[in-house]
Amino acid sequence: MKILVTGGTGYIGSHTCLALIAAGIEPVILDNLCNSKLSVLNRIEEISGKRPLFYQGDIRDSVILDRIFQEQSIAGVIHFAALKAVGESTQKPFEYYENNIAGTLSLLGAMRRAGCFHFIFSSSATVYGDPHAVPITEDFPRSTMSPYGQTKLMIEQMLEDMQTADPRWSMTLLRYFNPIGAHASGKMGEDPQGIPNNLMPYITQVAIGRRDCLNIFGNDYPTNDGTCVRDYIHVMDLAEGHVKAWQVCGEKAGLHIYNLGAGQGVSVLEMVRAFARASGMEINYKLVDRRPGDVAECWADPAKAQRELGWKATRTLDDMTRDSWLWQQTNPNGYEA
Ligand code: NAD
Ligand code: UFG
Repeated sequence: MKILVTGGTGYIGSHTCLALIAAGIEPVILDNLCNSKLSVLNRIEEISGKRPLFYQGDIRDSVILDRIFQEQSIAGVIHFAALKAVGESTQKPFEYYENNIAGTLSLLGAMRRAGCFHFIFSSSATVYGDPHAVPITEDFPRSTMSPYGQTKLMIEQMLEDMQTADPRWSMTLLRYFNPIGAHASGKMGEDPQGIPNNLMPYITQVAIGRRDCLNIFGNDYPTNDGTCVRDYIHVMDLAEGHVKAWQVCGEKAGLHIYNLGAGQGVSVLEMVRAFARASGMEINYKLVDRRPGDVAECWADPAKAQRELGWKATRTLDDMTRDSWLWQQTNPNGYEA
């Protein structure tokens, strides 16, 4: 069975390809490499023994999409391809709406033309905005604080409307919390370009000496130690969540919505300490002002995914920090071109 994986050379997509292959499913990747490298394919092959079929191209290009559906027998689509930097999206809203919204519409159009109605979408905890309580369940009200978040919310709405209008669709919305970590081999991991926006890659770059000091954004939040609390999830747990989602509801018509998180809140300072424990490295940090748009606490109630998908995150915070550090140490400059 073949699944089209858009954004499959990116961070979460590449790890999901490994999980798909392990489950006997063949990933077919479409990626324009705007935020990933071709050499990811070598690593997937080294680890899994299988090299995924790869199309270099853009989800906004209907010619390549139609060609893929003609050439391959695609059972369903897992749609990762997107621009994802929250801060950048406030500077470049057009690019975000164009890439993420127009790109998703183009993909859905090609699926309809090909008669493929099985869709899994990378959504985000960002659709919960500033939640009124934690842990967050799937029925919490949705709102958002950035153009990036707006694209996720609008796409969720589009998918719901399309499913209501045409019940042949299986639309699965997976809301990820904070994926970190790397494959346990150290051969695959997160490879941000430029200065990392996210906490874990910033910490590992301080540890390896690429950056001097971690800025901790705010220590006056209403949390135990004053720093923000998030739900960090190992990227391989997240990857396996996609396989479960495909196996349980991928081909079942309807709208399926799941939080994919570990269900545990961890503060920034707790994460810094956990990383020090795993790596034996002290992390130089300083406390600075809050970052605009951050919410104090955001963590999941993942019970629905456990109940209905039979999925739950099993890797610990120590696994996440250890694997991130191994990846950073063995690939100090990320993937080669
Ligand atoms: P990533 O940037 O590593 O991967 C995205 C991939 O999509 C990249 O390889 C990029 O080259 C490709 N891409 C982007 N636009 C494209 C286009 N128009 N056509 C073809 N390919 C295109 O990001 P990631 O962290 O792996 O995230 C994957 C998905 O998960 C995204 O939709 C993101 O919004 C979502 N998500 C990520 C996080 C996170 O913290 N990483 C959290 C919640 C949701
Ligand atoms: N942080 C720092 N210093 C840094 C980077 C981050 O203190 O250099 C803090 C942030 O203020 C936040 C926490 O570490 O409190 C986690 O920040 P990340 O940027 O790693 O993650 P976010 O929770 O802000 O963002 C993530 C995804 C987004 C998504 C958002 C909401 O990266 O795509 O969750 O779901 F929109």
